[in-house]
This record gives sequence, structure tokens and C-alpha cells, in this order.
Amino acid sequence: MPNSSKNRWNFPDLGIGVGLRTVHFGHILSKNPAVDWFEILSENFLDTGGRPLYVLDQIAERYPIAMHGVSLSIGSVDPLDVGYLKKLKKLASRVRAHWISDHLCWTGVAGQNTHDLLPMPYTEEALRHTVRRVREVSEILERPLVLENPSTYLEFRDSKIPEWTFLSRLAAESDCGLLLDVNNVYVSSFNHGFDANVYIDAIPADRVVQYHLAGHTNKGTHIIDTHSDHVIDEVWELYRRSVLRTGPVATLLEWDENIPSFETVHAEALKARTFREQASEIVPLEVASGGR
Ligand SMILES: [Fe+2]
Repeated sequence: MPNSSKNRWNFPDLGIGVGLRTVHFGHILSKNPAVDWFEILSENFLDTGGRPLYVLDQIAERYPIAMHGVSLSIGSVDPLDVGYLKKLKKLASRVRAHWISDHLCWTGVAGQNTHDLLPMPYTEEALRHTVRRVREVSEILERPLVLENPSTYLEFRDSKIPEWTFLSRLAAESDCGLLLDVNNVYVSSFNHGFDANVYIDAIPADRVVQYHLAGHTNKGTHIIDTHSDHVIDEVWELYRRSVLRTGPVATLLEWDENIPSFETVHAEALKARTFREQASEIVPLEVASGGR
């Protein structure tokens, strides 16, 4: 059962989960693995009926669910897609989703969807714009939106605000939650040459609702966020550093390419246990005092 967590909305610490992927449907339905929770990719279940929803309903009967999307395009200057948001809300009530997340990014403009999570310009103007949109989305969804830090390969010359400051200010000014992807922090720190520890230490601990962990592909000169491998030690170290600040928070492993057996994915996720246990022995100062 979910434990209560120390974030400002009392979103529960769901434990250690795995991203739900089609190749594992059969295994999950027949074996009922002892996994704490699943994160679903919202778009896989929005405009479909039949088998995917049939499977999802059964999984949602047995396991806690959180929803994770890629189409919100929160940073775009296109109007918000209210139809999409209403579909998200309907799916959330169907599967009793604990929260709905998406990414700090934009995916297109002028009605064109690149199907990519594009980096934002980190400027005061973009911050004001995004704060306004997060508030609108949270109002429509009738719940706080949860946003994930992206992995990026390019930066805007006009960016004036470090990503960690932009994210922290966005969270405070729009009252959103954060999905902290520690692999993304590592990937972007490598690609752009910033200190990942500075990023982790700047994140407001009481707004972290969920963690993502994943593997990546290191090309030597840059890293691509492929979700195709085990989590590297440096990323586990960042996770440790962060959970010591936030306490144990719902944690999820993403594996999207070269997906191995369910047992292998789950075993990789469960490596988070050690770090969560270390974190539960220490009550972080800002959490103990009720958050900042
Ligand atoms: Fe992620």
C-alpha cells in the first residue's frame, strides 16, 4: 500500500515502480509480479479501445497507477489542446491515477507536432508564459500538474536562467509538482557541461512527487537519452544525493529500447531500495520543518 509522503500535496510514496510496456502485458497479467506500481504512457491509451484498455483496466485493478504524457507541449505558444486535457482527465479517473505528469518542453508550433521533446529557451518571458499555462492546465485537470526535467542536446543562445533555477521558479510560481529524472540531469549535465550536483541541490525537495531512472547511450562527445540499458553508477549516486534531500519518493525505472524481460527491468528498479532505505533513516531538514 502507498505510504504518505512529505511533499506539499501529500501525494503518496508509491514505492518502486516500472514503466508499463506492451511487451510485458502477458507476463504481468499471468504472473502478477510483486511490483509496487506502474507508470503508463498516457497517449498509448487515449484514442484506443479494445485490448490496450482491457489490459490497462485489469492492471489498474491490481496496482497503483501514475500517468505520464508526451503531448502537452506546455512551453509552446500554440493554444492549449483542451480536448487532449479532457481526455487525460477522463483516463485519470478511469485508472484512478495518482498524478499526471508531462515534460518541461515544447513539441511543436503552428499546429505542427514534431513528436519530439524540444528544449525551452530559459528566459523571463518563457517563464511567465509557462507559469500561466501550467496554472491553466492544473485548473482544467483539477489537480496539480507534475513536470519532468528534460534531457537536452541543444541550448538557446538567449537562455539566461539555469535550467534548475527555471524549474524551481516555475514550480513555485505555478504551484506544480516535479518529476525529477536523475538520468536526464546527468545526460544534460554531460551534454552542456554543468555540475549535476548543483542541479540536484537546487531542486525544491517538497515539490518532488516522483523520480525517473533510466539508462542512456554515451557516444563519447555527447549522451543520448535512449532508455536502452542499465542505470549507470553516476546516476545512482545522483539519485542517492537527491533522496537524502527529499526522503523516499515514488521511483520509477524507464526502459524503452532493447527491452529485456520484466524480471530484469524490475530487478534494475529495485536497486533503488538501498538508497531509499538510507533516505528514510535521515529526515531532511526542510522536510522536517514542513517544506520551503
Ligand atoms: Fe524520464
